[in-house]
Amino acid sequence: MSPSFADPDAPSRPLHLVAAAEAPAFVAARPAPERAWLEAAGFTGALGQTVILPGSDGAPSAAVFGWGTDSDRRRGRFHLARAAETLPEGAWHLDAPLDTEASQEAALGWLLAGYRFTRYHASKRPVAALRPPAGVDAARLIAIAEAEYLARDLINTPASDLGPSELEAAFVALGQQHRAATEVVRGDDLLGAGFPMVHAVGRASSRAPRLMQLNWGTSGPRLTLVGKGVCFDTGGLDLKPAAGMGLMKKDMGGAASVMALAHAIMALQLPLRLRVIVPAVENAVSANAMRPQDILTSRKGLTVEINNTDAEGRLILADALALADEVPPDLVVSMATLTGAARVALGPDIVPFYTDDGALAATLAKAGERVADPVWRMPFWDPYEPLIEPGIADLDNAPSGGMAGSVTAALFLRRFVTASPRYLHFDIYGWQPKAEPGRPKGGVAQGARALLEALPEVLGL
Ligand code: BES
Ligand code: MN
Ligand code: ZN
Repeated sequence: MSPSFADPDAPSRPLHLVAAAEAPAFVAARPAPERAWLEAAGFTGALGQTVILPGSDGAPSAAVFGWGTDSDRRRGRFHLARAAETLPEGAWHLDAPLDTEASQEAALGWLLAGYRFTRYHASKRPVAALRPPAGVDAARLIAIAEAEYLARDLINTPASDLGPSELEAAFVALGQQHRAATEVVRGDDLLGAGFPMVHAVGRASSRAPRLMQLNWGTSGPRLTLVGKGVCFDTGGLDLKPAAGMGLMKKDMGGAASVMALAHAIMALQLPLRLRVIVPAVENAVSANAMRPQDILTSRKGLTVEINNTDAEGRLILADALALADEVPPDLVVSMATLTGAARVALGPDIVPFYTDDGALAATLAKAGERVADPVWRMPFWDPYEPLIEPGIADLDNAPSGGMAGSVTAALFLRRFVTASPRYLHFDIYGWQPKAEPGRPKGGVAQGARALLEALPEVLGL
């Protein structure tokens, strides 16, 4: 399924956006039958209130959508997406006093509301279509929505149908779609190729681990994206309790988000050189599983004491980041469903990110606000470095005590990026716990839109 707008040349019905403050005047100015209808419906302009107006034949001829107040709208995003979910099928166009940024959010939210996960169950809900509002770049919004759909499909697909080999198939298909070169190292070949920690995490699964790469673009600044591709996270031998394991099909949300971002970059033909690296594994339990207190030697040569096999994401990312850093790009980015601590700090909605570059952080936070993809800076706090040093090896993958869990995980990753001038890490959740406008319950890309929006300034495109 792919996102689409209504044909701009085909007939469509008006959808009036009416703020609470304007509702009485709006109602009073309508022709008498409409006025009576709106009054009978009790239309007040409350945010999300939708009234369909019948034409002379009784069929829907227009609709009004309550736009509430500024403070109502600050309590969420993609409000207009509710109209996409509730209006009758067919084409609609906006009659609304929105600036370009608000029109873009409205149109994108509408497209995102059209997402259905139909792999196992047909969708019964029809989708109303929106004519692209004036001033928005429809093709760009379609590319962004396609990217989001891709991430949602990947995250929503259960591990039974999305193991490392299926994630590889999706990765290679993405490369083929955009004529990008892809390369994959599988199974025991990971040892000879120098990815010992990807192998150590993934070897206990009946489904072989992988290290996947994609290269695209021939000129411009270099951007390398690294995504955590844990197709299922049981925790390994330090097994997760049931409540913690329940959602772990989404532990490849970082891989899904970087693949989504890569799709948008390639579809929009951004003038840069893109490299995407995804380590794909299943963190499983078997006789050959890595154990607590094992000491691994990473690709970079740093040794790591395994104090919890459930802190597996940072291990596979460490080898991937070391690879990324060997040909230093202008910017290295990692995205990962890395810690529960990130969720404790900020909840499912806001994505914590880490960077030492203050200008990059400011640009990214502002970009996230513009495109309704909220991100929040967290510190690479140098004084906590001792927490990730176990004494018996260079690094500890799971500091005891668990204080500042998202920060120590980020500090761990930073040890593997030493040659590249800038490093940016997102500790994402990748999951929408309850349906909100434009975001049905289930998988969701995070941080990708914010970064896409920030790239021109960050890389000087
Ligand atoms: N994939 C989990 C983190 C996670 C859990 C993200 C729940 C989102 C929701 C990760 O592999 C993990 O298990 N992290 C541990 C690390 C700890 C053992 C140091 C965690 O956060 O508890
Ligand atoms: Mn884990
Ligand atoms: Zn994990």
